[in-house]
Amino acid sequence: MTFLPAKWPRKLRSQEWYGGTSRDVIYHRGWMKNQGYPHDLFDGRPVIGIMNTWSDLTPCNGHLRELAEKVKAGIWEAGGFPVEVPAFSASENTFRPTAMMFRNLAALSIEEQMRGQPIDGAVLLVGCDKTTPSLLMAAASTDLPSIVVTGGPMLNGYFQGERVGSGTHLWKFSEAVKAGEMTQDEFLEAEQSMSRSSGTCNTMGTASSMASMAEALGMALSGNAAIPAVDSRRRVMAQLSGRRIVQMVKDDLKPSDILTKQAFENAIRTNGAIGGSTNAVVHLLAIAGRVGIDLSLDDWDRCGRDVATIVNLMPSGKYLMEEFFYAGGLPVVLKRLAESGLLHKEVLTVSGSTMWDEVKEAVNHNDDVILPFEQALTDQGGIAVVKGNLAPAGAVLKPSAASPHLLQHKGRAVVFEDIDDYKARIEDDDLDIDETCVMVLKNCGPKGYPGMSEVGNMGLPPKILKRGITDMVRISDARMSGTAYGTVVLHIAPEAAAGGPLAVVRNGDMIELDVPARRLHLDITDEELAARLEAWEPSHDQAPSGYAWLHQKHVEGADTGADLDFLKGCRGSPVGKDSH
Ligand code: FES
Repeated sequence: MTFLPAKWPRKLRSQEWYGGTSRDVIYHRGWMKNQGYPHDLFDGRPVIGIMNTWSDLTPCNGHLRELAEKVKAGIWEAGGFPVEVPAFSASENTFRPTAMMFRNLAALSIEEQMRGQPIDGAVLLVGCDKTTPSLLMAAASTDLPSIVVTGGPMLNGYFQGERVGSGTHLWKFSEAVKAGEMTQDEFLEAEQSMSRSSGTCNTMGTASSMASMAEALGMALSGNAAIPAVDSRRRVMAQLSGRRIVQMVKDDLKPSDILTKQAFENAIRTNGAIGGSTNAVVHLLAIAGRVGIDLSLDDWDRCGRDVATIVNLMPSGKYLMEEFFYAGGLPVVLKRLAESGLLHKEVLTVSGSTMWDEVKEAVNHNDDVILPFEQALTDQGGIAVVKGNLAPAGAVLKPSAASPHLLQHKGRAVVFEDIDDYKARIEDDDLDIDETCVMVLKNCGPKGYPGMSEVGNMGLPPKILKRGITDMVRISDARMSGTAYGTVVLHIAPEAAAGGPLAVVRNGDMIELDVPARRLHLDITDEELAARLEAWEPSHDQAPSGYAWLHQKHVEGADTGADLDFLKGCRGSPVGKDSH
């Protein structure tokens, strides 16, 4: 791709607030001076917003204020003017009913902060799952020069001498407690070992996947994704990114120059190679929607089909992000993909160079962490998109996290009408279920939950776990944590709450999953299905007011990214009427 840098110097948008001597300018500039900024800082240099998702209640981003200081140092060094801006921070582990309900609200608030304030470019300081896509969506909609800096993953956890992966072992340990294989005291002891440093989940969960997506899209400097949060090189990365954004503003290198269809295809293939989260599907679809790129579930299946998972990280493999960094991190994977003809080499990145220029010197330091293609964890590592009368608009499954013997399976449906119904009955020894059944969970999609919670990897009934069985086919319109695993069909669209066929599945129906054929089929006649849909009535609660009302009314399906319909597209950075 040919990118022609803009002429420099030229007048930047921040000068609309700060340049000149009018009453309005003095109102804007004078008040800023109460923070002790000298007059010459308002001379037309790039003003860079550091959009910081730090929050004490987003523990994965708890160290971002320190990192922001390094970003600022880089911006000062390059002749910019840094301003730190608090950004909406939706923590994966504390925000209720689910952080996903607030991804779009965060994107909306940050977009308006970027547009309505005197900044010329932005550093997106992110980490925990939803913070990365929400800020990328905002940057894409304003199209101001932007660069992603992630907080980096936590160090490896260890419990009783073994690696402990964030989330992944939480699910394993809680099932072991249910199966009577682990005591509650041991579970408590394991708790601290999971989180022994600052940073995001140390598995290839959603946070690490989205950090990798940002890098694969070209929106972060090369090597950003894997550097541990507490490693000094993370701070170096922050400082270098601060320097870089100043030049990006001078060059007018914008998200729309970087986020091309080819960049998204690169990211999809990368997600397959790293064994990345199914959540990346909804997030990339949403980001693409903001820049007007026509990306679909079919693109996910088409691009991901031939990509083997070569990153041996939990939940699909055995290592953690710290080891991925020591092995060489994402640049090694991108180079491997490029050498196999699976990467568009010439796409532009925030560095101003092509992706190939950024990764061609990468060296793999550990063949057991980043595997040769011949020894891949799975040959079809991409996200599989299944369709059929049960998911006309599609559903997704992560083959690398599934049990191979269940990828073609037909079983009797055991239906849970919603998550409360599931919780009320799953531990009942009289529940009519065995390991050949298909567990069906309804009303957990974008409208239904609301917010599409990560409950799709619903735990197996204790009576089955106690027999040593750890996986069954589970299907729902929910999402699944990126740290989770299992033969789990997710994001069924249209969702049950929108009247999709999932809504009318009944106990005892036979359901067929055939991943190689990309098929999810409810074994009833077309006439029967039509009659049931005709008789269907909505059963989920509609929020009466507030953001939940707005979300339920306007959220789109998972198959198009679950964005709010009125937020799609790029609105640019021009501001409306100034009130002063
Ligand atoms: Fe925040 Fe995993 S819960 S990164």
